[in-house]
Amino acid sequence: MVSALPLERVRADFPVLQREVRPGVPLVYLDSTASTLKPRPIIERMAAFYLHHYANIHRGIHTLAEEATEAYEGARARVARFIGAAHPEEIVFVRNATEAINLVARTWGRAFLKEGDLVLLTEMEHHANIVPWQQLAREKGIRLAFVPFHPETGRLDLEAYEDLLAQGPKLVAFVHMSNVLGTVNPVAEMTRQAHEAGAAVLVDGAQAAPHYPVNVQALGADFYVFSGHKMLGPTGIGVLYGRRDLLEAMPPFLGGGGMIRKVTLEGFTPADLPAKYEAGTPAIGEAIGLAAAIEYLETLGWEAITAHERDLGAYLLPRLLEVPGLHLLGPADMENRGGVFSFWLEAAHPHDVAQVLDHYGVAVRAGHHCAQPLHRRYGYPASTRASLYLYNTREDLDRLLKALYRVVEMFG
Ligand SMILES: Cc1ncc(COP(=O)(O)O)c(C=O)c1O
Repeated sequence: MVSALPLERVRADFPVLQREVRPGVPLVYLDSTASTLKPRPIIERMAAFYLHHYANIHRGIHTLAEEATEAYEGARARVARFIGAAHPEEIVFVRNATEAINLVARTWGRAFLKEGDLVLLTEMEHHANIVPWQQLAREKGIRLAFVPFHPETGRLDLEAYEDLLAQGPKLVAFVHMSNVLGTVNPVAEMTRQAHEAGAAVLVDGAQAAPHYPVNVQALGADFYVFSGHKMLGPTGIGVLYGRRDLLEAMPPFLGGGGMIRKVTLEGFTPADLPAKYEAGTPAIGEAIGLAAAIEYLETLGWEAITAHERDLGAYLLPRLLEVPGLHLLGPADMENRGGVFSFWLEAAHPHDVAQVLDHYGVAVRAGHHCAQPLHRRYGYPASTRASLYLYNTREDLDRLLKALYRVVEMFG
């Protein structure tokens, strides 16, 4: 028996949900894929740290410095447990998923890829998992190839994937859950195939880590990246998980204080993991906020969270498909799919749709969602995206649907 999410208590933790966007128009927040709202306990944990324990870490011998160091390293250990990493040293704190992918491209990629080597991506990637590799391609002459997806189903073409693996890529990098389609890719199977073909694997977990329990070892990921702000945590903190042997073999990323063992005028030797990749003063309070977010999610329980989101998705999806002139991007069933619903409405451009929805207090996103190649595959310049999280209700979805019918009436 899955224990139900205590929805009223959860919603009470998010004061903004009590807010009216305009007098008499309460907020319906359906933009969690871009960034989630922040609950009071996490903000309070960060405030307590800043008010009572704050100091720079690792360098001081005074009490506050020791407390701050302990809290920061405690946050790292919590993240390691959260994603099933074998060692806390495999967790590198970065600003966000984007920085984590850039770190891998600019260290592992620069050191171990050479001209002509193949990196395999997919056509459903966020720009964060395309552009760093294009930059590296310009710099080093590596080749990029893209696994296509079926626009009708929103699923990767896994036969094409196998064919591309036969070309011997050195790295395969793909999204765990698409930020546009909601598709959840079969990561463990794809990773197994990639390893058999001799490739390392980077998984972009920016949209999966907030919604599903992740175990990097069970998934077989060599690198796994995500952002704190998409899972109730603060901005400015993200995670690069890397297998220890890989992180040890790679050169450091940024140079400066904190990442060295020794510096002379002639040169430096890098610090051990994970400090080697954390140059300068890190986002200490934000790492503590991320750990508090993980605690919040784990206390509610993954089963309750995923059951609630699946229930909302199963409620919304068939009703969305009934809206006249609505074309869904992504799977039209809830199998291996998260609560992200992007669509093209014949009646109006996504920017107009979003503006009308905002008038009714419904916050959605309009645009290409940092996935222009994906949209090109559909032939749409942009889409409207409604995305769910644990604080949403069926009433929220009814408000969305009502406002969409209003758009159709106004423009149709
Ligand atoms: C799938 C995916 N990857 C990467 C990113 C980049 O995340 P961030 O902007 O936090 O670096 C996002 C953000 O929307 C995303 O959805």
